[in-house]
Amino acid sequence: MTRPPLKNQVAVPLVLAAVFGLAWYVLSRLVPELPAGATDQQRMTHAANEWAVTVVQIAFWMSLALVAVRALNELAFFLFRKRKGYEAPSLMRDLFSLVLYVTAGAVILKYTLDLSFGALLPGSALLGIVLGLALQDTLGNLFSGISLHADKPFQVGDVITVGKHTGVVMSITWRAVKIKTFSNHIVLVGNTVIAKESIEVCPQNGQNARIVFFSAAYTDSPVKVIHAVREAMREAENVLRYITPVVRIRGLGDSGVEYEVKYWLSDYTRYNDTDALVRQRIWYAFRRNGFTFPFPTRTVFMEEPAAQNGDGRGTETLAELLSAVDIFSPLTPVELNALAASSSNHVYAPGETIIRAGDDGDSMFVVSRGGVDVRVDSNGTSRTISRLGEGAFFGEMALFTGEPRTANVVAAEETEVLEIGHDAMRNLFRTNPDLVEALSHAINERRAGLLANASAPRGEEDTHDGLLSRIRRFFRLD
Ligand code: CMP
Repeated sequence: MTRPPLKNQVAVPLVLAAVFGLAWYVLSRLVPELPAGATDQQRMTHAANEWAVTVVQIAFWMSLALVAVRALNELAFFLFRKRKGYEAPSLMRDLFSLVLYVTAGAVILKYTLDLSFGALLPGSALLGIVLGLALQDTLGNLFSGISLHADKPFQVGDVITVGKHTGVVMSITWRAVKIKTFSNHIVLVGNTVIAKESIEVCPQNGQNARIVFFSAAYTDSPVKVIHAVREAMREAENVLRYITPVVRIRGLGDSGVEYEVKYWLSDYTRYNDTDALVRQRIWYAFRRNGFTFPFPTRTVFMEEPAAQNGDGRGTETLAELLSAVDIFSPLTPVELNALAASSSNHVYAPGETIIRAGDDGDSMFVVSRGGVDVRVDSNGTSRTISRLGEGAFFGEMALFTGEPRTANVVAAEETEVLEIGHDAMRNLFRTNPDLVEALSHAINERRAGLLANASAPRGEEDTHDGLLSRIRRFFRLD
């Protein structure tokens, strides 16, 4: 709320002071002295005249006091603004003026009527009780307002939520806090209500965050969705640049994966527009990346286990992938198809462990998409000794020797692997004896790699022939 300039505030009381001053001067000259031995009638007339002069005199001093208080108020809060750098709250100004008015009133009464504050006290005590009862709510607001100013839980320009109202604080007065809602409505909340209610405050210059929800289809990779949405938020107007938005899964819903994006705003008062912009960006990101917003429907998948595998890739596709693996290249298409049909495809998020060192294992894996790290513990820290990409295999050591897993294998990115079990391999060994030979070569090479890491778990050392016969024994091939 802007106050009128000082000259407008003091113009009227100054004119009044001039008028009353002149009247006081003229009247005091006109009133005759009371003659000695005056009659009762003369005494009464004189007293009435004196009273009239006193009233005009009080009016004169009151007008002057008005000018002085207004000027003092302006001066004091000009200095306040200079020192603190912001406007003093109107409640503080009003209280300051009130104290000055009461003081000026007391001085004027003392000077003109010789009435002291002490003399007024018995009367004012009674008046105080009457007024206190009548103005219970108003006084409550006043005192809550004073404590609001002392606590300073929020300031003009902050966004607050009180009860069902959310809006920007416009002013804090001795009676109420005025907020402007986002529908441009003005709401006045009494200070006593503010003192009683719990208030949510979003400071004007604070790092205020918002959360926007969205869903994606189960077929859309979470890693890709999260990456695409995070990228889409960049450069969005009013989204803070220096804090990266957080995109995460918050639930697995009936029709899709539920996500939330948490972002920080430069100007919190514009959160409605910014939420809308963020949703718009998400839509475009989905469109560019071919993601699907799930409809509130249920899709029933009729699964055909023989033709499909894991995430729905066809057996032929998987057989093709297996044919690209070195050790399986001698297999016929029929054998590759049979191997693909009896294996299963799994997907792993970056950082997920596929194999744990020391576990028992009766299957091996082929990387069908992405890549994995082979890690061993060395002096208490985990060290990557090999990165295996698409088409590489792992987990063969435990499968073919019956020993515990020799290393941890962790997805380096979003990775799909094809798992091949013990029985599927035994069938292959029967028709492809050379396969055992190829595998024992690979195992020996990898053991050498493990041995190079002194503190890594070591497989049982074998000669090439020893390993071959161990595999044969283990798979009962002889
Ligand atoms: P397994 O021991 O069953 O489980 C851990 C797997 O890590 C192991 O089989 C191998 O497939 C793989 N592995 C172990 N050492 C190496 C290595 N030096 N290079 C590549 N892969 C390895």
